[in-house]
Amino acid sequence: MTTKVIKNGIIVTPVHQYKGDILIEDEIVKAIGKKGEFAAVKAEFIDADGLYVIPGAVDEHTHMSMPSPDTYSMPWETETIAAAVGGTTTIVDFAIQEKGKTLTEAIDTWKKNANNNTAIDYSLHIAITDLNEDIIAEIPSAVEQGVTTFKLFMAYKDDKMVDDATLYRVLKQSKEVGGLVMVHAENGDVISILQDEYVKSGKTEPFYHAITRPIEIEAEATRRAIALANITDAPIFIVHVSGEEPAEEIRKARMNGQAVFGETCPHYLFLDDSYLQLPGFEGAKYVCSPPLREKTHQQKLWNAIADGTLQTIGTDHCSFNYKEQKHRGIDDFSKIPNGGNGIENWLQMLYSYGVKKENMTIEKLVELTATNPAKFMGLFPKKGTISVGSDADIVLFDPNKKHTIKAETQLQGSDYNFYEGFTIEGSAQHVFLRGEHIVKDDKYIGHLGQGQFIESKPYGAAYDSIRTNDKGVV
Ligand code: URP
Ligand code: ZN
Ligand code: ZN
Repeated sequence: MTTKVIKNGIIVTPVHQYKGDILIEDEIVKAIGKKGEFAAVKAEFIDADGLYVIPGAVDEHTHMSMPSPDTYSMPWETETIAAAVGGTTTIVDFAIQEKGKTLTEAIDTWKKNANNNTAIDYSLHIAITDLNEDIIAEIPSAVEQGVTTFKLFMAYKDDKMVDDATLYRVLKQSKEVGGLVMVHAENGDVISILQDEYVKSGKTEPFYHAITRPIEIEAEATRRAIALANITDAPIFIVHVSGEEPAEEIRKARMNGQAVFGETCPHYLFLDDSYLQLPGFEGAKYVCSPPLREKTHQQKLWNAIADGTLQTIGTDHCSFNYKEQKHRGIDDFSKIPNGGNGIENWLQMLYSYGVKKENMTIEKLVELTATNPAKFMGLFPKKGTISVGSDADIVLFDPNKKHTIKAETQLQGSDYNFYEGFTIEGSAQHVFLRGEHIVKDDKYIGHLGQGQFIESKPYGAAYDSIRTNDKGVV
């Protein structure tokens, strides 16, 4: 790797921004200095004048090649190139335990899919779907293999859903080894009954996806997961919080001193349930779980971000084609594969409609999309920050570059884009992955296989406020 200097840019951290030059050597940030400080170094110089210099985004919530009944979400190849061009340099993907198989088999399957096929670095969570004594005993081994975060689905009955006993046992065991439990909080039993009732009465269109998953279904499961975490004294992380009531459950628990954390996703901030009512079957494009909510929830989510109730934003990128895949549910909304896309555009959207619309500062954007995800997922300070010794995962972000999002020009593999027609002001111009220039003048110039598996460390930020663990972490 050639030595590089990024000069004249505005470096942004979660707490401030300043003008400085960055020296990159051997994949890491070697030094940060004042303007011109490295002028005498024999290096390639990249001029970042007028650009923000931010850490590569860490998207802690993606689903690459994920089995969804009878089909798979979009693969690593297309989606990680799209991610790179959008300014994301690390994803944390969900390896799904196949029923009857071990956690190690899930890790191996995911690594096999990812290695040689990923444009950016990746780490893994494991979604436990089939618990028994052997799997409980395997949790410490997963942590030793660098997988420290365990996802449990409280929804998707007869597929990935687990019961409360599983949630309780995994919370208890993962706490012993510094793991973090992440939950998809929706009451899957009740959703399943509601779906049957609606489909049987002929209500089969995409909008009924939202009707059968009302926000109380999410709030109740959030409350239950938090209660079980409290009983086990384990930290818990609630993914894809979609609106006011579940956010309020997290807020209340945090005010009681419980180690409860949460993530929301760009689509809950920028899209609403009217998209599910688009003419014909178009609403199927927007079927994801939890569902898109009424518009009034968007401001409540911004409030939850501002007051610290929610600490991260992740894309929940789980992309399917409209034509061949979403159409599986043409006669029955409950058969539409759940998930949407966004990894190519999430930073652009968050900058254009978050920072520029004064919902948050650019410092907060860095905190929510890079620093905090890296901290919670055990990847900090290797990832999520521009600091001496950190991986040189760096984005030069042009705050003025304009374009309109269109599926026909996207790199994401799907035949549609969640954010079709949104106008953008601000996007990644250059991206460096461990010092390698992988996006130049907003064009991908890297190669698949360049991305590496990154082990996550136990006792991430979720443990910062827990003073009872015996590892002396706090
Ligand atoms: O609809 C969604 N969110 N699909 C991806 C899987 C999940 O629930 O996170
Ligand atoms: Zn989920
Ligand atoms: Zn997800």
